[in-house]
Amino acid sequence: MKTPYYFYDLDLLERTLIELIAEADDSHIHYAIKANTDKRICRMISNYGLGVDCVSGNEILHAIRCGFPPSKIVFAGVGKTDEEILIGLKHNIACFNVESAQEVQVLNKLAKRMQREVNVAIRVNPNISAETHEYITTGTHENKFGISCEHLMEVVRLIEDSSYLKLTGLHFHIGSQILNLDNFRDLAHKVNVILAEFYDEGIDIQHINLGGGLGIDYQNPTGNPIPDFRSYFQLFRDELQLEAHQEVHFELGRSIVGQCGDLHTKVLFVKQGVSKQFAIVDAGMTDLLRPALYQANHHIIKNNALENEEQHQYDIVGPICESSDVFRKSYSIEKLKRGDELIIKSVGAYGQVMVSEYNLRSRPEVYYKKDTSMATIALGEHLLMN
Ligand code: LLP
Repeated sequence: MKTPYYFYDLDLLERTLIELIAEADDSHIHYAIKANTDKRICRMISNYGLGVDCVSGNEILHAIRCGFPPSKIVFAGVGKTDEEILIGLKHNIACFNVESAQEVQVLNKLAKRMQREVNVAIRVNPNISAETHEYITTGTHENKFGISCEHLMEVVRLIEDSSYLKLTGLHFHIGSQILNLDNFRDLAHKVNVILAEFYDEGIDIQHINLGGGLGIDYQNPTGNPIPDFRSYFQLFRDELQLEAHQEVHFELGRSIVGQCGDLHTKVLFVKQGVSKQFAIVDAGMTDLLRPALYQANHHIIKNNALENEEQHQYDIVGPICESSDVFRKSYSIEKLKRGDELIIKSVGAYGQVMVSEYNLRSRPEVYYKKDTSMATIALGEHLLMN
């Protein structure tokens, strides 16, 4: 197979979904489709009955094509265009998560034009740190996302005065790749405070959407292929103080698809620098942007390495004309030579979706591994059988 290519383990995805659904109990899960829009992956997720969280009009259309019912689509995003809002209205999606007073006004105007009643959740910026990379922190006052608690009641009144909008929910999302569950505990406490205020004001909230953000184990993907969904959901069950009729929703992306993807790449050249050795591979930041953009460290293994091979240190770098095109620095791995195949792990989320054609690069191919006994989806030409 021609490298670089993405390789998805659909059996692992299926096991992850089964565990997720068991642990989520009666919470509603919307897959954050921005993490991976691959059709087979999306179809499998929709087949398992999950809803979907979209952040663009095209994501809504894609989600519907992949089998997600519009009644389970929530639409977030700080900058929705009129065209995108109209797509959501036309398809009668479950809820718009609004992020500014002006968006409320535009949504009401367009809903009136379409003669549609619209469910709205306010995205609240709870000003909570997520202890994650600054580029994937979303819930502090430094970030563009959501409406601060100071302005919340103003926006509530605005929605109440908008005849085509119905305030049904509150939406939160504090960031991504969060491993310290205390951050989610802080979120739950903040939600309780806000809900108490709403209760005092006599405002009924039917659903609380806690966003996504649960992290995965990038260091030890083989040891921990499925995230600790149990502790995550249990925390919210323990901490949230809800009324009996209030539904809990989540928008998980990375934790569902992150570990099911590998990126295969070949060593083109090994070069001795002055103080270090470089292994130059045929995948670059155009195929996997995360290391260049967020200094993300993906685990890399040498395919078909022999047991007890001596370890050497390399900077594993791509071929793109950018100094940030580095996958790992001073990385210990078995001795490498031209033609060796490397597997970059945990690329199922925010990997293929962030591919670019910079340097006029071709897009990587995609292959799948699926056990025939679990054939819940159509088999395509690139599907590999066990
Ligand atoms: N809900 C909202 C409103 C979001 O903005 C996001 C992710 C999610 C849910 C899903 O979060 P997750 O469960 O996947 O953490 N490209 C970055 C991650 C960007 C996340 C953007 N928002 C990365 O590669 O780390």
